[in-house]
Amino acid sequence: MLTLESACRNPERHRVLTGDRPTGPLHLGHYFGTLQNRVRLQDAGVELFLVIADYQVLTDRDVADRPAVHAENLVLDYLAAGIDPERATVFTHSSVPALNQLLLPFLSLVSVAELGRNPTVKDEIAHSRQAAVSGLMFTYPVHQAADILFCKPDLVPVGQDQLPHLEVTRTIARRFNDRYRTDLFPEPQALLSPAPLLAGTDGGKMSKSRGNAIPLGATEDETARLIRAATTDADRRIGYDPERRPQVSGLLRLAALCQDRDPHAVAEDIGSGGAARLKAAVTEAVNEHLRPLRARRTALAADRGHLRQVLRAGSERANAVADTTLAEVRAAMGSV
Ligand code: TRP
Repeated sequence: MLTLESACRNPERHRVLTGDRPTGPLHLGHYFGTLQNRVRLQDAGVELFLVIADYQVLTDRDVADRPAVHAENLVLDYLAAGIDPERATVFTHSSVPALNQLLLPFLSLVSVAELGRNPTVKDEIAHSRQAAVSGLMFTYPVHQAADILFCKPDLVPVGQDQLPHLEVTRTIARRFNDRYRTDLFPEPQALLSPAPLLAGTDGGKMSKSRGNAIPLGATEDETARLIRAATTDADRRIGYDPERRPQVSGLLRLAALCQDRDPHAVAEDIGSGGAARLKAAVTEAVNEHLRPLRARRTALAADRGHLRQVLRAGSERANAVADTTLAEVRAAMGSV
């Protein structure tokens, strides 16, 4: 299993692709779970592709809400966090038509039974807000294989929930190579985030849809309000005990990540100060840590034209790579 550290040690040996659905602002869970690691890889010199998976938004809803605005806001969060558009290629799926052309041959390499068995798709169907399950829901892991394999990355940083999709991607790469007697596609490996899931303000996994997330772009006052509303418990003595006190421990871990300290040490500082002191300390830690990021974000937000330009340039680079791969695929298949 490859680690972030070993990938950073040999940057020239790696190419990384990962991405997000443009459904809303990124929050601290994204930041500590993946965004920071992407920036580390980039700064170590690893080539980085970031796909804004706008077509994927249509898997569990009929119409995507303002996709262009959400895509630009993702770029805003990326750049504020340290993604450098001169070094990383940031693009939307819908702006690279060759990705959808790769979908057809890739679909021919998987069976309907395999598509139906995907646990992440099953889970999304269970939580979908649609009355009927669309064909896109079943096939989107294959779609995702195309938005990964087009640039032939060897590493895909993802969370646990994406592992079944990466398995589909590896299967497709292998079967394409076998069927057409080529070595066109590498089998990319997952790069799992070393940080375990970050808890939201209710102690559960931080996620926008659960309403327990702290957005990167929140103001300091909004951050204070969100943390003040967090669930805690009645024990005034603050201690780190994720099993028995998940909410208090989630807050301690958040402060600890921001200050690069041990959560036990954070708890000791607060001692018997109770929930109010805990929340004040966490707010301070989060706001302090995010201050430079938020300052950059505010400056970048003033120039929407620049965000669009970043997407245009990224899309141009991604199109050039995808067109080359599509030509290689057509040649391997003997198409005219
Ligand atoms: N499916 C991912 C999610 O829901 C987003 C995504 C799209 C992605 N394409 C990707 C992630 C390629 C990693 C690699 O978060």
